[in-house]
Amino acid sequence: MLTLDSTIGELYRTPIGRDLADKMLLQAGLPQSTLTNPLVSHMKIRSAAKLLPGKIDPSLFDAILSLVNREPETVTPSKAPVKPAWWKEAVFYQIYPRSFCDSNGDGIGDIPGIISRLDYLKDLGVDALWLSPVYDSPNDDNGYDIRDYRAILAEFGTMEDFDRLLAEVHARGMRLIMDLVINHTSDEHAWFREALDDPSSPRRNYYFLKPGTPDAPPNNWGSFFSGPAWRYFPEEGLWGLHLFSKKQMDLNWEDDGLRREVLDMIRWWLEKGVDGFRMDVINYISKDPGLPAGDPTVAGLIGFCGVEHYIYGPRLHEFLKQIRREAFDPYGAFSVGECPGLGMNMSRMVTAEERKELDMVFSFDHLETPGHGKYDDYEYDLNWYRDHILQWIENYGTNCRLSLFFNNHDNPRMVSKVSRNKALHPYIAKLLAVLQLTLPGTPFIYQGDEMGLSNYEFTSLDQITDVEAKGFIAENRARMSEAEMLRILNAGTREHTRVLLPGGGQLPPWHAGVTQQTPDPEVEESYRFLLKLRRSSKVFPYGTFELISDKKNAFVYRRSLNGKSYVIECNLAAEPRKPLYKPKKSRLVFDSQPLHTGDLGPYHAQIWEE
Ligand code: NOJ
Ligand code: CA
Repeated sequence: MLTLDSTIGELYRTPIGRDLADKMLLQAGLPQSTLTNPLVSHMKIRSAAKLLPGKIDPSLFDAILSLVNREPETVTPSKAPVKPAWWKEAVFYQIYPRSFCDSNGDGIGDIPGIISRLDYLKDLGVDALWLSPVYDSPNDDNGYDIRDYRAILAEFGTMEDFDRLLAEVHARGMRLIMDLVINHTSDEHAWFREALDDPSSPRRNYYFLKPGTPDAPPNNWGSFFSGPAWRYFPEEGLWGLHLFSKKQMDLNWEDDGLRREVLDMIRWWLEKGVDGFRMDVINYISKDPGLPAGDPTVAGLIGFCGVEHYIYGPRLHEFLKQIRREAFDPYGAFSVGECPGLGMNMSRMVTAEERKELDMVFSFDHLETPGHGKYDDYEYDLNWYRDHILQWIENYGTNCRLSLFFNNHDNPRMVSKVSRNKALHPYIAKLLAVLQLTLPGTPFIYQGDEMGLSNYEFTSLDQITDVEAKGFIAENRARMSEAEMLRILNAGTREHTRVLLPGGGQLPPWHAGVTQQTPDPEVEESYRFLLKLRRSSKVFPYGTFELISDKKNAFVYRRSLNGKSYVIECNLAAEPRKPLYKPKKSRLVFDSQPLHTGDLGPYHAQIWEE
């Protein structure tokens, strides 16, 4: 049990303390040595708090200590060989159905559209598809606000279309995982309507509905989509908690009946034969009882108020174990949990094989370099990515499995973040593909990565339709010009990854004026080659990892298994540099810039077979 009289060093040595401290250092743009240097690490937490008046309020440490003291367990990272599993060998491909392929010309991607592209995906060489939500939804957050878990959104097709999709995926020897959004439902879900309308219904307790007056929300928590996390329902005199949009009402997992209904629904999909789930913000499902006020200092550092009361809640492990035991395991289903805010140690606690919770997590700290947020317009230094991923590779343990991704539907494209120079984008796209497909872990490609897509240039706020951006616009309209908002959104909006894919049909009216990009055949060819190479042996899914060089702008490593090995040499910057790997009898099997002569070119990547 740590107290304010424990030292900073003791705090930093606990798994949770370390993750939280690293997260704050990252946010503040400070190196880890800030806390590991002996002067600071021997200091009592209480004194450290006093040393930084104005900057850090002592209440911050109370918030951290309560999270740290809640976790009595630890995970020992294993060094044993990786245990085989299909999802460790697979390369996943994320489909955002709305913008993948439109079969009927209404500008909205749909399930028949996905079916029509299955041969393309199979031929590309991916093994499993992750479908972002296709459930019935009023679309406040493009399907992440589910109205009916057992129906398909009409714009996307019918349940027959879905069944056909699943059968066609399986017929091609691929697998399909669904998005499971169970932290919240739409306010139009029957459970919520009943909870709101009928005070005597047991479903009233399925949500966080608190009686009160319009002037006083139950606590100070903020929504991720701007403004407070509480919505007032005047007719009922109730406040409802929504961590996301006003139409995404948080479910109360404390309620046994709610958990039973959610588990039934999961089993219903598994009975259909789906192979697993990507679980939306799954680390948020357990909230501190009583929903205590968020600490203002944490809010200042992280940007959202209240997070310490649900990113790693008191019953999180228990709920995850229940889902696994009662729904996933009987069907052999795979799970990857979207876990914003969890660092390496907390991720281990929810994924280590022996703990029987999740199979993998998506953690997000690699998406921005220190001190940067998603809306910052800056150039991402891949040297930082190398150092970050190395920490995970070296310390995560073989009982935990890394997920490898650079893009998804919630972020702008990484190639554009790395450099503003468009001429370099194809090189960067190929370099990221090499990293993603040769580092240890399971890769998740996002639709369009293989086409070398980069960000769009939105010319009007009207082209940006996403609820997160709308929250940003509403919050800033009074203090920023349209041009300023557009500049910021162009740097960070997730709309960039939600424009209908090239070849997927005509852009819908709300994207009028946006010029669809042209796929880059060389990038696609590289993906095809790399996916084939990955399949040709088990070196990449299971092989050992050996760092050869992490000198500035270099990332050189060896992957080996059973006498077979590959060396990967990457130039992480735009400046050409001399290669560091000295091939003896090795054969160059992949060169991202084959026509380039002399030193390695900008963002150049090579794979050597030894
Ligand atoms: C994470 C999803 O990826 C994102 O698209 C969504 O807006 C939030 N969760 C809320 O469901
Ligand atoms: Ca359509």
